[in-house]
Amino acid sequence: GVKIATIGGGSSYTPELMEGFIKRYEELPIREIWLVDIEAGKEKLEIVGNMAQRMWDASPYEVKIHMTLDREEALKDADFVTTQFRVGLLEARIKDERIPAYYGMLGQETNGAGGMFKAFRTVPIILEIVEDMKRLCPDAWLINFANPSGMVTEAVVRYGKWDKVIGLCNVPVMAQMVEPEMLGKQPDELIYKFAGLNHFHWHKVTDAKGKDVTQELINKMYEGDETGMPKNIHDIPFPREILEQMQMIPCGYHHYYYQEEETLAHALEEYETIGTRAQQVKQTETELFELYKDPNLDYKPEQLSQRGGAYYSDAACESIASIYANKNTQLVVSTKNDGAVPDLPADCVVEVSAYIGGQGARNVAFGELPTAERGWLQVMKAMELLIIEAAVTGDYNTALQAFTINPMVRSGKTAQRIMDELFIAHKEHLPNF
Ligand code: NAD
Ligand code: G6P
Ligand code: MN
Repeated sequence: GVKIATIGGGSSYTPELMEGFIKRYEELPIREIWLVDIEAGKEKLEIVGNMAQRMWDASPYEVKIHMTLDREEALKDADFVTTQFRVGLLEARIKDERIPAYYGMLGQETNGAGGMFKAFRTVPIILEIVEDMKRLCPDAWLINFANPSGMVTEAVVRYGKWDKVIGLCNVPVMAQMVEPEMLGKQPDELIYKFAGLNHFHWHKVTDAKGKDVTQELINKMYEGDETGMPKNIHDIPFPREILEQMQMIPCGYHHYYYQEEETLAHALEEYETIGTRAQQVKQTETELFELYKDPNLDYKPEQLSQRGGAYYSDAACESIASIYANKNTQLVVSTKNDGAVPDLPADCVVEVSAYIGGQGARNVAFGELPTAERGWLQVMKAMELLIIEAAVTGDYNTALQAFTINPMVRSGKTAQRIMDELFIAHKEHLPNF
């Protein structure tokens, strides 16, 4: 049987992961799941771990849930390691969102100043996990969900020198769920090609006969349909002229770039009225854990779909099942480029459509991007590489360069002040700086 180790097991998303594994048990016969957390998440781990065990007990399968604060014990001989931890918990995310916003800039979980600091906190931990894996489970696959997912995956490959890694996100999952409906098609009647970076990708769609239907989809997007946007993203229409020009569908986070003025204004207003996203999520999380405490609840409650990461298990569990059973399912993953996106170096991590099998991801070639998108993509990858380098070396000047070229940060004295304040606010989680 298969051993799974989940780092950050106390996450409120864990029941969704269990649901995905239960659904796939016949092709992925799991024997044991180890949920790992830290002292600060002990109570969450206990509640959600018991809930997870009840879900398996209600299924026809015998799977044991182990809860532990000992990462090494969990990693020993694991076949798959999934990572869904949040260094500093939601309190850290509130600081990422609040401090830049105080100066009129974007603080967001994965974008702007907030996203860069989440990377600073997360990269050192993921590299520790990789070192543990080299000793304790050298044949295991790492399935990363911890954000910023693309940068974390890049750090694993570039600095961890670990290639058996797949980075995931639910944004492409949701797009591929909703868009077939918009076109009146079944999901298997459409063929998708995604390319870019995590939270910075575009996609094109053809029908089963190879006819490009991206323009049809663009038309539908302006008819007021549900566009498959995660709950945390403000859904305003993109400038239609740009979509018509590039003949690709941007991802939700592109609103921050194509319409910085509108999206930032919306975010800042929301922060002042109903609170930052982390503050809203705290409320949802409290409600979820109240539900999870119910000894009669043995299935994933509906309320979990209020979280932005809903449906991520479709990507996580399917990639694990695809590797295990060499299924060659097509998914969108963060993985080494290898030429799929020729506008970026072959050795960097990109988010692309890929066939997932026993040997990992085999990327679908996307080809060159239009001029404007290529420029943006190259800047964003440079920013990511600087952030990861700074996270590893602790070099302040490298961090400042990343801040300066990040399109969501207005360069200058204020930007540096924001960075300095974030360094102070997050001191305890930034041992390298
Ligand atoms: P959360 O705040 O519930 O954190 C999950 C758990 O991680 C907590 O129980 C916490 O105690 C634990 N943790 C913190 N540091 C740890 C460490 N060093 N080792 C082990 N466990 C540790 O977070 P969440 O809202 O469930 O999100 C979890 C992660 O998944 C975040 O990084 C979030 O950004 C990410 N996420 C990714 C996507 C995606 O599309 N890839 C979607 C949603 C969330
Ligand atoms: C999805 C993304 C995640 C993101 C999350 C936030 O949009 O794919 O990567 O960070 O939702 O969700 P939350 O409910 O925590 O705001
Ligand atoms: Mn994501």
